[in-house]
Amino acid sequence: MLVLGIDTSCDDTAAAVLRAPREVLSNEVATQYDLHAAFGGVVPEIASRAHAERVTLVIERALHTAGISQADLGAIAVTNRPGLVGSLMVGVAAAKSLALTLGIPLVGVHHIEAHCTAAMAEHEDLDYPFLALVASGGHTAIYHCRGPQAVELMGQTIDDAAGECFDKVAVMLGLPQPGGPSVSKLAEHGNVKAVRFPRARVKHDPLAFSFSGVKTAVLYYLKGPGGRRDAPDRADLDVSYEDVAASFEQAVVDVLVQRSLLAAEQAGVSDLVIGGGVAANRRLRAVLAERAPEGLRVRFPSPALCADNGAMIALRGAEMLRSGIRSDLDLDVSATGELAR
Ligand code: KG4
Ligand code: ZN
Repeated sequence: MLVLGIDTSCDDTAAAVLRAPREVLSNEVATQYDLHAAFGGVVPEIASRAHAERVTLVIERALHTAGISQADLGAIAVTNRPGLVGSLMVGVAAAKSLALTLGIPLVGVHHIEAHCTAAMAEHEDLDYPFLALVASGGHTAIYHCRGPQAVELMGQTIDDAAGECFDKVAVMLGLPQPGGPSVSKLAEHGNVKAVRFPRARVKHDPLAFSFSGVKTAVLYYLKGPGGRRDAPDRADLDVSYEDVAASFEQAVVDVLVQRSLLAAEQAGVSDLVIGGGVAANRRLRAVLAERAPEGLRVRFPSPALCADNGAMIALRGAEMLRSGIRSDLDLDVSATGELAR
């Protein structure tokens, strides 16, 4: 069966075609970084308008690249939670109208559950149970994926997401958005030990994350104690931006790796998968590979499957359909991930 997957949960308009269960035939994304750059973050109204303008085109491109027509589709999977409500509604409306026109099943997918399962597209032998670290611009969490219908949250951030932190530090260093790749590139030639930025722990919750402290520590390091974002750098700054970027990146990576390995040990799994935009980070991949104990396989999806994409939605949707789950045409959206009914 061919499944179309659509994701418009944040600022990427994404569509993909999957031959169930795991073969990705196309994976198209239209990003919106240029539209939001001047505002220092994603503007919900601009995002939903851009999705509305692009979604049909991106779907057509996904079908074209896969070499199929609408009539070949067997089902449609669409992200309906969590995300920006106005953005989610555009994808869900497109999915509903196609499902209705073609007379094929529709299934609403949880965006984070899809990030957890994305690695399956490239790792044929990957199966439940496994552990998933999902780190993106909006989320940082660890899930114990026991089975297709048993995805349990083990720990999450109590404040900023890891990707959000990269994006804010990029602004401080005068780098373009998205911040993750630009900070990471600058960090390549920096000294990870130049500055000791904090690796925060959360009291009574060893698997929780807190990233607001490291972000503030970078700000104060650059501007001086209590320094404001728009203040000039302190006069006695004797460390290069490359070193600041590398030291910051190492601090975030150390925390992500430490929590993931602890959770894997607690859950007793032999597979750890990573997902979300931050999972594309080279240092994260290198440190995880280096520190993972024998017996724990770390699955690294390619960057296109880490960032927001339609393939992971199609894959997760196909899995749900196999379990007999499908949505009605009154499928609702939810900002938080919880559905009212
Ligand atoms: O999963 P994603 O595409 O969208 C969200 O759901 O947020 O993740 C985007 C986030 C951004 O914060 C971006 O800066 C971060 O992932 N990111 C990275 C890297 N590539 C993207 N962070 C660190 N290192 C990277 N190489
Ligand atoms: Zn995402």
